[in-house]
Amino acid sequence: MSEKLEKARLYEIKEAENIPQEEKPAFHVSAPVGWINDPNGFSVFKGKVHLFYQYHPYSRDWGPMHWGHSVTEDMVRWEQLPTALAPDQEYDREGCFSGSAIEADGKQALIYTGVTTEKLPDGKEEIRQNQCLAWGDGKDYVKAEKNPVVTGDMLPEKCSRVDFRDPKIWEDNGTYYMIVGSRSEEIPGQVVLFSSENLKEWEFETILAENSTGEIGVMWECPDFFPLGNKHVLICSPQHMRAKGYEFHNGHNSVYFAGEYDSEKHTFEKDAPVSLDYGFDFYAPQTTLLPDGRRVMIAWMKSWDNCVINEKQRWQGMMTLPRELEYRDGRIWQQPVREIENYRKNGCSYQNVEVGESLSLEGVQGRMIDLTVELLNTADAAGGDEFQIELARNEEYTTLFTYNRKKHLLEIDRTWSGVVRDVTCVRKIRIPDSGKSLKLRFILDRSSIELFINDGCQTATTVIPTPVEADEILFHSDGKALINVEKYDVVL
Ligand code: FRU
Repeated sequence: MSEKLEKARLYEIKEAENIPQEEKPAFHVSAPVGWINDPNGFSVFKGKVHLFYQYHPYSRDWGPMHWGHSVTEDMVRWEQLPTALAPDQEYDREGCFSGSAIEADGKQALIYTGVTTEKLPDGKEEIRQNQCLAWGDGKDYVKAEKNPVVTGDMLPEKCSRVDFRDPKIWEDNGTYYMIVGSRSEEIPGQVVLFSSENLKEWEFETILAENSTGEIGVMWECPDFFPLGNKHVLICSPQHMRAKGYEFHNGHNSVYFAGEYDSEKHTFEKDAPVSLDYGFDFYAPQTTLLPDGRRVMIAWMKSWDNCVINEKQRWQGMMTLPRELEYRDGRIWQQPVREIENYRKNGCSYQNVEVGESLSLEGVQGRMIDLTVELLNTADAAGGDEFQIELARNEEYTTLFTYNRKKHLLEIDRTWSGVVRDVTCVRKIRIPDSGKSLKLRFILDRSSIELFINDGCQTATTVIPTPVEADEILFHSDGKALINVEKYDVVL
């Protein structure tokens, strides 16, 4: 084991002990100590689901990237494993950036971006991003003797050697494929495809998808590509993307393209991009296929530009709950993994409750909860324009979800959630008018709120720094509103 890896492993054991567990999420993966970002290597190996992540144990901020590691049997209860990779080689000395994992020959193969620098003829140093391989047993990993396995020199001439990262790997009919995020002098944002018979020697196949109109950001980070329903789906996270209507409000966005893939010619005809999440804190999602056929996705529950943490915290960064994906009626639907239902306790439910100016319901409160609120669309409940839910509330704090029934807009406002920096606090989401009731399922895990709208037709993910004592829930309506409410504590 290298000195750097050993140092990280010892440090995280020692320091994680000093972090109060009550300030951490209970059923979302979070930084053991220090900083985490993108999920990496989300995959099944020997019957367990593994999750690695971009990790800098030594400070609360981004730094030389390691790969942290957690494992689970049900995607709710996670076990911390020792740091998997450290930036300890010449070819990755500036960082082990994002990547993926696959089971091959009974071992777990990790493919990641090794970041290093190269001296140019004029003496200046320039970043180089290349794809590297490591092998392991589910806990300890050894980097391949011959690394990198894919370099920027294998790309067409005008492609960037500086921005060439985040390999996602899969196997199809005995051949391995890898897509990597990239850009070129002419195309801001593209995804390139490679193939291999043995994971060690790779060939460039094609540019699978590109930002030909220039409207979809400048560099496509963290691509993923997989069949879903009767489509193929490309996910990526374009940096610096402009908002369009009610889509793409996060600056650095995560989007998907549904389309048709010809697996012989490697062509992908894609539809227009769609936001994967409409909240504030969602980036760099990655998916895996479970043995039972479910395609599940997990994302970094944070944004690059916002810092929403308690100032005293020594850790920063969490993951979303893994979400089951489905493609139907021309779009992706997301639901929290069904295993979360095994941890539901203290259920209570209310039917046809009339909401006036202000209403609280006995038993409906908490900060580790699974709460569904249905705003009924009945003739006698059509009185008001605005319906509001306050979560994580007390005299000092609140986070507001306000639905305007005429405009079909849902507004999230975390201005009073305890943020003490200049961060984005208000977001508006357009809800397609189905003529039916509005169904909102909120999953709270202390400092996060994941909202699944209308059975996962849309989602909105929000981090709040609110002290956990603020656990009240209030309902308001400016006219008459009827609601159904179902609430469970999530107890591990
Ligand atoms: C996305 C990203 C990746 C990169 C990693 C570095 O959030 O910028 O493109 O591999 O983070 O930590």
